[in-house]
Amino acid sequence: STTLTVLGIESSCDDTAAAVIRHAPAAAPAILSNVVWGQTDLHADFGGVVPEIAARAHAEKLDLAVEEALAEACVTLTDLDAVAVTAGPGLIGGVLSGVMLARGIATATGLPLLGVNHLAGHALTPRLTDATPFPYLMLLVSGGHCQFLLVKGADSFTRLGGTIDDAPGEAFDKVAKLLALPQPGGPSVETAAQNGDSARFALPRPLLDRPGCDMSFSGLKTAVLRTRDALVAEHGGLREQDRADLCASFQASVADLLAGKARRAIALYMDLSPAQPTLAVAGGVAANQTLRAVLQKAAQDAGVQFLAPPLALCTDNAAMIAWAGIEQIRAGKTAPQDFVARPRWPL
Ligand code: KG4
Ligand code: ZN
Repeated sequence: STTLTVLGIESSCDDTAAAVIRHAPAAAPAILSNVVWGQTDLHADFGGVVPEIAARAHAEKLDLAVEEALAEACVTLTDLDAVAVTAGPGLIGGVLSGVMLARGIATATGLPLLGVNHLAGHALTPRLTDATPFPYLMLLVSGGHCQFLLVKGADSFTRLGGTIDDAPGEAFDKVAKLLALPQPGGPSVETAAQNGDSARFALPRPLLDRPGCDMSFSGLKTAVLRTRDALVAEHGGLREQDRADLCASFQASVADLLAGKARRAIALYMDLSPAQPTLAVAGGVAANQTLRAVLQKAAQDAGVQFLAPPLALCTDNAAMIAWAGIEQIRAGKTAPQDFVARPRWPL
C-alpha cells in the first residue's frame, strides 16, 4: 500500500482543531501539524461550555485552523489523500460546522470524506503514538466521558462499562465550584489536594463493590457538598486546610473507584489472552498524577503495560481524527462515506 496524508478536523466540543498526519506503511505515523484552539475564555463566565457560543466560534475559525494546519505541515490540498472529520458524538452545532467545512473541501477537491466517531479517535490514539497492537484496554476519562473500552480493531470496540451519571472531569469541575477553586476544576483540585489529608473525610465509593465496570460519581459530589456545608456551619467559612483535606479525600475516592473498576476491566480483558497486554488512558482527567499512579499500579499488578499518550494527544485534538481516518482507510473503507452529523453516537 501507499503513503497516506490525511487532514483531520475536530469541532465537537470547545476546541477548534485541525491536523495533518502522514503515514507510510513501514514507518511510524508522522504528525505534520496539530493545531488546537481552545475556547476556554469564551465560556469562562458561564460555568460550562455554551453550545451556541461554541458553534459560532467554530464556524468563525475552523477554516483558519485548517489553513494553519496545512501551512504548518507544508502541504496543500492537492497533497492530501482524504479528509477526516468528527461526525459525532458532541455538541451538534460544532459538529455540523466541521462536517460542512469538510464536505466543502471534499466536494471542491474530489477527495474522499471520512466521518469519524470522536470516541474512536480517542480510543485509537495509542496506535498513533505507540503502534499498540489489538486488542488493548482503554480507559477514556474526560469532562464528558468515562468508559472502559476493549479495542479489538479499527472499527471494533466493546464497552465494558462506564459512568451511569457524571464523568470524573465533570465531578472535579463541580467540586472546584463548590470549594470556590478556579476552573477547569481538575488541575486546581489536584493542586489543592497536594497539601491535604486524603484520610480525613470518609467519602463514599459508589458501586465499587458491585460486579461489572459501571461507575458513579454524582453521589461523591453531593457528599463533598454536605461536608463543605458542615465545615462552613462549624467554622463560619471554609478554612484553607479544610479545603485541601476535602480535595484530597475526594481525589482519593475517585482514585479508588477508577482503580477498582480498572482491575475488573483488566480481568475481563485478560480473558482474550492479548499478545501484548496494555491498559491505555485518554481524556483530560488522565493528566492527574494520583489517578495515573493508581491506574499504573492496577495494570502492573496484573502484568499489563500502562500507556498514557502525551497530554496534547490525550485531550481533544484533530490528529486523533486524522489518524482514525487513516485506520479506516487501512481497514478497507476507501470509498467516500455517506454519513450524517450525530449528537449521540455510541461506539
Ligand atoms: O479531554 P478534555 O480536555 O475535554 C473533554 O472533556 O472532552 O478533559 C477536560 C476535563 C475537565 O473536566 C478537567 O477538569 C479535567 O479534564 N482535568 C483533570 C485534570 N486536568 C484536566 N481532572 C483531574 N485532574 C487533572 N489534573
Ligand atoms: Zn474528547
